[in-house]
Formats: sequence, C-alpha cells, structure tokens
Amino acid sequence: MINKIKELKSKLGNKVAIPAHHYQIQEIVKIADFVGDSYKLAVLCSKIEAEFIVFCGVRFMAEGAVVLASADQKIFLPELSAGCPLADFITAQNMENALTEISDVISEQIVPVVYMNSSNDVKEVCGRNEGAVCTSSNAKKIVEYYFQKGKSVFFAPDYNLGINTAREMNIPESNIIKVHRDLTFRQTELPATPKLFIWDGNCRVHKRFQINDVTDFRQKYPQGKLIVHPECTEEIIKTSDLSGSTAKIYNEIKNSPGGSIWGVGTEYHFVQRLALEFPDKIIVPLRKSVCSNMAKISLKNLYETLKSINDHLENGTQLRNLVTVTETHKVNSRKALQKMIKIVEG
Ligand code: 13P
Ligand code: SF4
Repeated sequence: MINKIKELKSKLGNKVAIPAHHYQIQEIVKIADFVGDSYKLAVLCSKIEAEFIVFCGVRFMAEGAVVLASADQKIFLPELSAGCPLADFITAQNMENALTEISDVISEQIVPVVYMNSSNDVKEVCGRNEGAVCTSSNAKKIVEYYFQKGKSVFFAPDYNLGINTAREMNIPESNIIKVHRDLTFRQTELPATPKLFIWDGNCRVHKRFQINDVTDFRQKYPQGKLIVHPECTEEIIKTSDLSGSTAKIYNEIKNSPGGSIWGVGTEYHFVQRLALEFPDKIIVPLRKSVCSNMAKISLKNLYETLKSINDHLENGTQLRNLVTVTETHKVNSRKALQKMIKIVEG
C-alpha cells in the first residue's frame, strides 16, 4: 500500500499536497508532505498552491483548509466520518443563544473566541460577531487581545482549554463563568471588568487522564518530566511539569537531552510515534488513550482518495471524499480564522 501511494503521489506531482496532524499514525506521517499542530496546518493551507489537498486529520481541520484555501483548490478527507466529538459539543444555534443570553446581563461587549475544534457553522457565528478562532498554541494570546480592549469573551467549546487559559492569565475566580449546556450560568456578582464565559464541552480522549495516572508515573519515573495537552483537566495540568499544543510537546521532547524521561498526556498514537522517533529517550504515555476519529485515516483510504483524484484527472470520474462547507458561511468563518492568524503573526 505504501508503494502504491508513493507511486500515485509522484505521478500527481505538485498537483497534490498531503498535510497530516501529529495524531496520525507513523505510516501516514512518513508519506505526508507536512506534519504539524492544528495552527501550523491551518496557516499552511492558506499558503499551499496544490490543486488537491488531501488532509490527514479530522473534519474541522479539513473544513478550515476549505475556508483558507482559494476557491479553485479542492480539499479531501480520506474518511469523511472522521469528526471530533469535542467540536460537536456546540452548535451554531447554541452559540447564538449563549451570546444573546450573556449580552443581556453584562454591560460590555461579549466577543466569541472559538477553538479550532469546532464546525465551520460555529466559526461563522464567531466571525459575524467580531470574534476569532484560537488553537491550543495561542488561546492565551487571543483571549488577552480582547481582554486588553475591555471586552468579555465567550470561549467555546472546550471547557478545559478555557479554564487552563484562565489560570495561565491569572483571571480572578469571580471573572470566570461556566456556561452550562442548558444555557444556565451564574448571573450574580458579575464584576464590571472583562469576564471569561466558558462553554461546558470536553474532549473524551483527554478527559480520560486521571490523577492516579500522574501518581503512577511519578512513582515509576521520579526523574521523569510530565508534559500534557491543555485539553486535559485543570487537575492534570497543575500536577504536570509542562503543557502545550502537539507542536510544543513534539519540540520539547525533540530538544531535550538524550536519556531524558518523558510522560506524555495526549493521544496515544502520537506518543507511540515520539517514542519511535526519539529512541535515545524514554517516552511513555500517561495512559493509553486513542482518538478513534484520527485513527479512521488509513493507508487504504488515503490510497483510495489519491486514486480517485488520479482517475478524475484521467477519465473525468467523480471525486471521492471531497470536503465542502456552506458557501454563504465562508466569508465570516474566514474572517474568524484570519483574525487568529493576524493576532498571532502580529
Ligand atoms: P493541536 O492544536 O495541539 O494540534 O491539537 C489538536 C487536537 O485536536 C488536540 O486534541
Ligand atoms: Fe477531537 Fe479530542 Fe480527537 Fe482532538 S483528540 S480530534 S479534540 S476528539
């Protein structure tokens, strides 16, 4: 299968580009043209010139590419059912309702900051309301940007990334308000200063890490360092040594001296790949927690997608696994994505 993919890839040449997220299996990463965290891949997709982009990741990432690429580029997801249950925690209607309810009880403007792990429809509401997208690598920077302007922020859908960002920013407890999925939230004793309203969603892959996993790691590897993703609970972040996006996790481990011992609290396939890539270090998963959606991308469906592109070019047959978004929603979701890039890149 690997050889067949390589053959097709070289035949298609620079007509096709394959970006892959860090959570993809080793075999896919080796074939990919680029690998990165969600921020890096989003920026790349706004720059790649290939006519066909085959995204090895999950749906929200491919949708981001559709929005950021130009209209004549086509984006594919080798398995269209590869979604993100965290993204499904909030709908565009939930967003609209939450923004209305919050603006009814505060005097300053409420601006949405939506995590990249959200649908394009949710990003549309974000852009229409002057908000920005964020990823785990820049959430603090984006929230700070609005706080400095005296605006309150509605952060969705990941509660853990929201609360971990609030802790990093030292936002007082009174200014942090959890918005429950039935739209109820604390409405009393709200201070006049900017507040962070956080939606109650979570990633089940990262929620699995428990404090006893940390205790076990510390007991087994007293000299080891623990690095985790900010989608983990606040308790796990507090008891770990470092936290950050998949790119930060990758770089910290890559740049550590040989012989270093690392416990890693994020998706299992990624940890497995780190251990293979850096055999001079001891790299262990905090717990074996797999993202079954990321794992839906296989050599087989990647091959089938490339073959469908090749057949289309040769015989005009129908393309498979093409990702599209509601055309009328593109303008505002692009605005929200570009706002993130502008804040980050300065
Ligand atoms: P990164 O932005 O850190 O790559 O994370 C994406 C993700 O889905 C983590 O679960
Ligand atoms: Fe979504 Fe969690 Fe999988 Fe990341 S690990 S893609 S947040 S389900």
